[in-house]
Amino acid sequence: MTKPFRRRDLLGIRDLTPEEIRGILDTAENFREINSREIKKVPALRGKTVINLFFENSTRTRTSFEIAAKRLSADAVNISVSASSVTKGETLVDTALNLDAMDPDCIVVRHSSAGVPHQLAKVSRAAIVNAGDGANEHPTQALLDAMTIREHKKKIRGQEVAIVGDILHSRVARSNVHLLTKMGAKVRVAGPGTLVPEEFKHFVDDGLTICPHVEDAIEGADVVMILRIQRERQDSAYFPTLREYAIHYGLTNERLDLAKKDAIVLHPGPMNRGIEIASEVADSSRSLILDQVKYGVAVRMAVLYLATGGNVVN
Ligand code: CP
Repeated sequence: MTKPFRRRDLLGIRDLTPEEIRGILDTAENFREINSREIKKVPALRGKTVINLFFENSTRTRTSFEIAAKRLSADAVNISVSASSVTKGETLVDTALNLDAMDPDCIVVRHSSAGVPHQLAKVSRAAIVNAGDGANEHPTQALLDAMTIREHKKKIRGQEVAIVGDILHSRVARSNVHLLTKMGAKVRVAGPGTLVPEEFKHFVDDGLTICPHVEDAIEGADVVMILRIQRERQDSAYFPTLREYAIHYGLTNERLDLAKKDAIVLHPGPMNRGIEIASEVADSSRSLILDQVKYGVAVRMAVLYLATGGNVVN
């Protein structure tokens, strides 16, 4: 069965209804099978053009958007900002207007400042997809995390999800808190007091608990999501040393043993091994970190397809 997806841009999870989130996940589920075929290509986006405009570094997101576009037969163009006219002083809006003049169907943008995708959506005719804006949102990461949880736990509603680490600087945490609370999960967050933002208190009525200790968040959890320490966004010392962070907040096997026996471990990557997550956990059978990356391609296929006018498939 198909039904229309009445949204052009994907700027954040905050704007989406639970039905829209389900629609994207169902569509991604349908696309997933293409990725295991011998010939991984379908004509769904033939004739469409997708531009990847990344002002920040990326391994997973940029590559998977490019692969997703190509598997749907779109023409995918990657703009390297360091080789673009941004280095000559061209403004963000002028850059977007000039790209838009070439009639792309979708521009996927990552930027270190919150709100850049929203700004581009106001001036661009192409659909804008947020691939991460500062510490604001990373909607496709939350969607691929949700797909991983759905695949391994069969549903999101009622799952106890611990989100641990540098929440203050994490767009992944923000998108996940929006998504998981909208979909009925019970979310517990923990990290150094300096890295848990005040704004998260607003989610308490929606099923979010702020825990004083990492162990309180992990105890009894179905899903343990570990966040990266974002040293590039930290302009002051939020904790004494990385070694102390690892001791007090890092996910070790001992801490993971507090979670349910069949708990799964997620991390958006890139990982700081030995700091927020021990290698023994990252490489264990409970870790689904590479599954997340795999589902990321299907989620981004769904997002590109729906943003360029495709119908929800379920
Ligand atoms: N999870 C994530 O956004 O990874 P990249 O920075 O490599 O895209």
